[in-house]
Order: sequence, then C-alpha cells, then structure tokens
Amino acid sequence: MLHMQALAKVYRTELVETHALRALDLHVREGEFVAVTGPSGSGKTTFLNIAGLLETFTGGDYHLDGVDVKGLNDDARSRLRNEKIGFIFQGFNLIPDLDLFDNVDVPLRYRGMPAAERKRRIEEALTMVGLASRMKHYPAELSGGQQQRVAIARALAGSPRLLLADEPTGNLDSQMARSVMELLEDIHRKGATIVMVTHDPELAARAQRNVHIVDGMVTDLQQEPLATASA
Ligand SMILES: Nc1ncnc2c1ncn2[C@@H]1O[C@H](COP(=O)(O)OP(=O)(O)OP(=O)(O)O)[C@@H](O)[C@H]1O
Ligand SMILES: [Mg+2]
Repeated sequence: MLHMQALAKVYRTELVETHALRALDLHVREGEFVAVTGPSGSGKTTFLNIAGLLETFTGGDYHLDGVDVKGLNDDARSRLRNEKIGFIFQGFNLIPDLDLFDNVDVPLRYRGMPAAERKRRIEEALTMVGLASRMKHYPAELSGGQQQRVAIARALAGSPRLLLADEPTGNLDSQMARSVMELLEDIHRKGATIVMVTHDPELAARAQRNVHIVDGMVTDLQQEPLATASA
C-alpha cells in the first residue's frame, strides 16, 4: 500500500536547513494497522504529511498503492488523496462556519458523490461516533473530545482505503481514547490500512506493528508484519 525508500525531507529557510526525514524506509501492506512512535521533533508528522500527499519530499521514492507519487502533478495528487486517504490530524481541522453534517460532507462533495449517498454516509458516520443528535450543531458548541470524534466521523464517512492518524487520542481522556481506538479497530477490520502516530504506549500496543522513528529514520529492524497480517 505504502512503499517509502530512502525518503528525505529538508526544510530550508534562509538561515537553517532542517533534515526532518533522512533516508526513511517504510513498507506498509494493504490492510495493516501500524503505530508510529518516536520523540517529539523526530519527523512523525512530516512523514504522515508526505504519506498523505499533503507535502512533497526532497529525496528518495514513495509509491502509494503502486503509483509513483513523484511523477504526479498537483491535480493528480489531490485526486489520489481524495479517493484513497482519510485524515485524523492534530487540531481537528474542522470548519467553524459549517455544522457537523456539512463538516463531514466536505470530503464527500470533493468526490462528487450523489446527495442521497452522502446523506446516508454522514448520518451513519456521526452515529458511529455517538453524535447523531448533534448534526446541526457547530464545532464551537462541542467539547474537545466531541470535536475529535467529528474529525473521525469525517474521515470514516469516505471509507478511505488508507487512514492516517496523528495523535488521534491526544486531546481525549482515557475512556474516550479507548472508544476512539475501538472505532479505528472497527474500520481496520472492514479492510482499511491504518497508520497512526501516537505517544500512548497502550494504544501503540493494540496495533499490529510498531514502527519507531528517531531523528528522521526508522530505527526498527523489523519491517515485516506480525503473523496475523496477510500478504
Ligand atoms: N514547515 C516546517 N518548516 C521548517 N521546519 C519544520 C517544518 N515542519 C516541521 N519542521 C521541523 O522538522 C522536524 C520534524 O518535525 P515533525 O513535526 O515531523 O515532528 P514530530 O515527530 O511530529 O514531533 P511531535 O511529536 O512533537 O509532533 C522538527 O525539527 C521540526 O521543527
Ligand atoms: Mg507531530
């Protein structure tokens, strides 16, 4: 699903060069659930942004579902992103002027889905995260944990083949964190590939495989999924 070879990312400003990723190798198979851990500043978010085609890279190779990402123009990248990838990122990225229904609708509209199909998916996703009764509310009227769940509903509504999550439980209490993890496990069972960055060892332990990033590189020798995952 996701093949990165010697991936590098350098951020340049007038004064400094930051090597956010250096020769990162990572292979994630279709249907795997991988947790990514590592110290602050080690490049985890940079890696997810590149994986999700939100950012370009400065060296190495990245194939997403067999497509060489380097050869794509902006339009093709956006199309691939909208078709395949769901995001649960820090800061939620909800749109304040839209109610919950319309927030979840955003990625579905991008895909040009018919209205009836969108409505069905939005209601189903908001029900899954326990917010069906709040569809006409605005993000500001929700708690942080509820906002996080809307972001999750938005990601789930599109049934993404690949779900990228950056600290999906970072702002949640432990009970809410567990229910979010259960949602992720649920969509994993339905076939999605998941790559989740987390600082929480309990959550990391529930993934099929842990990958450790230090200083912009994967430090683990273990690149093969555990016995439970299929090829
Ligand atoms: N837009 C940017 N411009 C310049 N440097 C950046 C930019 N984004 C990230 N960096 C730098 O790249 C390095 C990796 O950052 P990144 O956000 O990927 O770390 P992280 O592992 O996600 O950390 P955390 O656990 O704190 O979220 C850091 O040194 C950071 O300062
Ligand atoms: Mg980060």
